[in-house]
Amino acid sequence: MRHILVPEDLTAHEIEAIFAISHDLESKYDAGLRDALLPGRVLALVFEKPSLRTRVSFEAAMAHLGGSSVFLGEDAGFSSSRESVADFGRVLSQYADAIVCRSKAHDTILALAAAATVPVINGLSDYTHPCQALADVYTLKERVGRVAGLTFTFVGDGNNVARSLAVVCGLLGMRFVLAAPRQYQFTPAFREHLRNILPHAEIVETTDPVAAVEDTAVVYTDVWASMGQEQERAVRLEAFKPYQVNAALMQHCPQAIFMHCLPARRGEEVTDDVIDGPQSLVVDEAANRMHVQKGLLAWLLAK
Ligand code: CP
Ligand code: NVA
Repeated sequence: MRHILVPEDLTAHEIEAIFAISHDLESKYDAGLRDALLPGRVLALVFEKPSLRTRVSFEAAMAHLGGSSVFLGEDAGFSSSRESVADFGRVLSQYADAIVCRSKAHDTILALAAAATVPVINGLSDYTHPCQALADVYTLKERVGRVAGLTFTFVGDGNNVARSLAVVCGLLGMRFVLAAPRQYQFTPAFREHLRNILPHAEIVETTDPVAAVEDTAVVYTDVWASMGQEQERAVRLEAFKPYQVNAALMQHCPQAIFMHCLPARRGEEVTDDVIDGPQSLVVDEAANRMHVQKGLLAWLLAK
């Protein structure tokens, strides 16, 4: 049994295998076919935060694969005084074949996985968002045909999405650049972790967004205040102003693709002309969440 709690729970070889299944299922989906690889299987989704893409793409994925899903929101009493996270995980494992968890604190997912007897997949925590990063790099590969050797530039907060992308890019031989104000770059502990798990990866941090996007294949951004950071919004909006992805910045990389995990705060981290412009792949990215999660579910469960 495998849990996917952080992107580094997968090797490069395993990611390529998941992408191959995803690509096959995506082609079939486009042809109007559904491959029932998981008949009768049940996926439980335990979410402590709002979601459109992650929730619906996992639920649709299970339906297309011939299984079903159960969504558990706040009323299920997860991570509350109602019962312990361990009891919740042990019991839920009796009904479901796998669990997707979106938690406020990453430690909650770790506690759930420690108790669960079925695979637990991280559907976003404050620390990382592995399914997002997998879909993003898959999208790039689909568009460009390869990913190794390309530069992937994240302009904005060194947050959960940026951390997961740094790892997936490093695993797949890409150069990752984070352009952020110094106080919102990666922590020393995360940098050390990256050096340990990806000793040969090129992961660069800078405060200069213009230098960061020159020669890049991708310009990526995400909200400046993530879920749970609402009280820091005013301070963050001020700090990130020079990091807005707008037409002036994109002029420095006319060859680059623009990506965003969504939801976007239009007019803050990105302007309408960029997110709706010819360089933007944001809708493909969102679509690929479903295809890549199908690949992941089939790889994890259809053995
Ligand atoms: N990108 C993403 O995870 O979106 P949701 O928060 O809507 O799931
Ligand atoms: N960084 C964002 C991503 C949402 C998909 C957040 O955690 O709110």
